[in-house]
Amino acid sequence: MKEITDVKEAGLAAIERSNDLNELTQVRNEYLSKKGLVASLMSGMKDLDASLRPAFGALINDCKEELEKALKQKQEALTLVALQEKMAKDWIDISLPATKFPVGNLHPLTLVQQEIEDIFRSMGYRVVEGPEVELDLYNFERANIPADHPARDMQDTFYVDSKWLLRTHTTAIQTRTLEKSADSLPIKVVCPGKVYRRDDDDATHSHQFTQIEGLVVGENITLADLKGTLQLLAKSMFGEQRIIRFRPSYFQFTEPSVEVDVSCHICNGKGCNVCKGSGWIEILGAGMVHPHVLDMAGIDGTKYTGFAFGLGVERVAMLKYGIDDIRHCYTNDARFLSLFKRFE
Ligand code: DAH
Repeated sequence: MKEITDVKEAGLAAIERSNDLNELTQVRNEYLSKKGLVASLMSGMKDLDASLRPAFGALINDCKEELEKALKQKQEALTLVALQEKMAKDWIDISLPATKFPVGNLHPLTLVQQEIEDIFRSMGYRVVEGPEVELDLYNFERANIPADHPARDMQDTFYVDSKWLLRTHTTAIQTRTLEKSADSLPIKVVCPGKVYRRDDDDATHSHQFTQIEGLVVGENITLADLKGTLQLLAKSMFGEQRIIRFRPSYFQFTEPSVEVDVSCHICNGKGCNVCKGSGWIEILGAGMVHPHVLDMAGIDGTKYTGFAFGLGVERVAMLKYGIDDIRHCYTNDARFLSLFKRFE
């Protein structure tokens, strides 16, 4: 019995003396493992008289429990110390300013395209797309552009082969839509997309740019509907302060045709390099869909009428944001793009 008490006292002292978790593990092994001191005391029980065994057993159990309890307490204390040491070594200053990760933003052309789409969606238009590599058929023939027209020249159009080309205008989506929807009139669509022309790039020209085509076909659609629609578009996009002018014009696929100009935002109409001295920037061609164009698509041009327009997204973006060179839209200078951030 004395031996048990001695082992217990020695064990408790050893636990108390342990300076770290390693030492504590050694003490645990020494006292409480299968071949430890407590286990060897236990094995002495079989040599005892049966009457002494209960008291002996109780004492050993008490010894074991006390040691276990002390071990647990010590372990918790040492774990805390270890954690505190680690925290003292590995501390971070949470009051330091955090690393800022740059957040991207939509491209100005995307912003303008979405804004125009939204205006037309709110008037019940659908948004329709088409292929950029297009058949001559939809780009030219169905748009009533004859084979000898200068637009078909190799100088103006990127040809893939004699049948395929890079579409030169979103009017190709118009002619496709006319054909596709010939049996499900009325049509009310806007068609955004990239177009390609063999232009020399300068402040206002790019060999690739973006257009949005508009097309409405149904019964009793008139030039007055076109006017009202374009007026509403101009007001929503540019506000009241810009002046808009309508000029009679000519397109093969419309009759009559108009061109819509907006007063130059850079020089306010005085004349500068953006407007090439004229004070006006053309943003839009429009007109009543030529009856022959309707006929070619399988729509009865004597019964149905329609209007169409084609708008340059770059020009609108340049007007809206005061961009003085169309090439900024394509050089992807992050400093330029970040000007269109909505949030810092
Ligand atoms: N396709 C013409 C162009 O690229 C723009 C255009 C003019 C489209 C009149 C139209 C329209 O739908 O009616 O210059």
